[in-house]
Amino acid sequence: MERRSWAEPFKVKMVEPIRMTSREYRQQRIREAGYNSFLLRSEDVYIDLLTDSGTSAMSDYQWAGLMLGDEAYAGSRSFYHLEEAVREVYGYAELIPTHQGRGAEHILSQILIKPGDVVPGNMYFTTTRFHQEYAGAEFADVIIDEAHEAANPHPFKGNVDLDKLQAVIDEVGAERIPYISVETNVNMAGGQPMSMANLKAVYELCRRHDILVMLDATRALENAYFIQQREDGFQDRSVAEILREICSYSDGATVSSKKDNLVNIGGFLALRDPELARRARALLVAFEGLHTYGGMSGRDMEALARGIREMVETDDHVRARVGQVEYLGALLLKSGIPIVQPVGGHGVFLNAAAILSHLPQDQFPAQTLTAALYVDSGVRGMERGIVSAGRDPATGDHRYPKLELVRLAIPRRVYTQSHMDVTAESVIAVYEEREAVRGLQFTYEPDELRFFQARFEPIPD
Ligand SMILES: Cc1ncc(COP(=O)(O)O)c(C=O)c1O
Repeated sequence: MERRSWAEPFKVKMVEPIRMTSREYRQQRIREAGYNSFLLRSEDVYIDLLTDSGTSAMSDYQWAGLMLGDEAYAGSRSFYHLEEAVREVYGYAELIPTHQGRGAEHILSQILIKPGDVVPGNMYFTTTRFHQEYAGAEFADVIIDEAHEAANPHPFKGNVDLDKLQAVIDEVGAERIPYISVETNVNMAGGQPMSMANLKAVYELCRRHDILVMLDATRALENAYFIQQREDGFQDRSVAEILREICSYSDGATVSSKKDNLVNIGGFLALRDPELARRARALLVAFEGLHTYGGMSGRDMEALARGIREMVETDDHVRARVGQVEYLGALLLKSGIPIVQPVGGHGVFLNAAAILSHLPQDQFPAQTLTAALYVDSGVRGMERGIVSAGRDPATGDHRYPKLELVRLAIPRRVYTQSHMDVTAESVIAVYEEREAVRGLQFTYEPDELRFFQARFEPIPD
């Protein structure tokens, strides 16, 4: 018989207590944290939706793998298990293991970028763009316009606008574009996928101009699931097959394994070209570690190899993962809360610009809303708006992104449907009181990646 509804394809074997605190307690904690959710202690958080990065629950099979990790400095057995898993699941021959995604971004940017280059991409990601700029490149956003419109229901808001990409190539010349950085399930757009047809077209265009295509395949699994659900011709293909096809339209990928791959730390750069891989390994030994462990211990590599296989073993895992995110999104939409639509793969993104429409963007509506939500219920989200966008290195002014969002990222296999219900109730309660919320101003602003450690205070009356 057809199943009418689905449930998580696992049961819980171990629990970690969390505690609810009083409103006064949380007001005090957020003040001490400079109204920045990154600076809260996790023990003061009730439901932690700061990030889906490194917060997954591992399976019993992965935990068992930790005990079998080979901690040899060179030639670790666990490295070869990982290499085999990456070859089979993603299809890249060359594996360069790193401590996490940004380690891979660093190595890739350093081997490919020369000062004065331009790197086009489908919307920026914070650390990715940082490493591109740090290596001397300028980032050029070539995502479709629909990605910048929170309520636009386009099914593939992560798509590259081929005309914009062609215009960048015409303007600066292909020789100044070392690669295009293509992110699957674009995080800053709200976890929005790109279509296979679009990726294939990008790859063909870049081939014609001898430009490499480098994926940020951090959430490629979730992108593969959306392709299966939304793109003609993919309904009968497994998510594993779709993922392999995604990777086939690229020359390599950076991956933060703290997301799709179901581990708490780790990442990798994967390449096809052995010569590029040789150059990457030469830098790896300076910045991360020897080429057979990079930035990971043997046990981390063992758990990662198992996580990579587990995520595609059946489609049930990713269906339940995205299904939980969609469940929270549906609760909020039913109550008229403005969120990014369609609901993305790894979290629900609240449209802070619409919710706190009385605040100008330089009073940080998303930062403010994140703090208000924490005070209401102990639910911790993350600002993804003007604070994350940082300042333009040329002018020193704020960058004003069109999207001013609070991200409620859902860790994989960690929370239940009741946690989603509590979260939705809190968002609705804050929404009802929104007009009383005051904006914030900086008391400390770091120069780089300011959102991590910035501090704020409420703007006085
Ligand atoms: C799309 C994307 N790329 C890269 C990274 C960086 O990965 P890591 O945090 O493992 O350094 C992240 C992490 O949040 C991400 O979401």
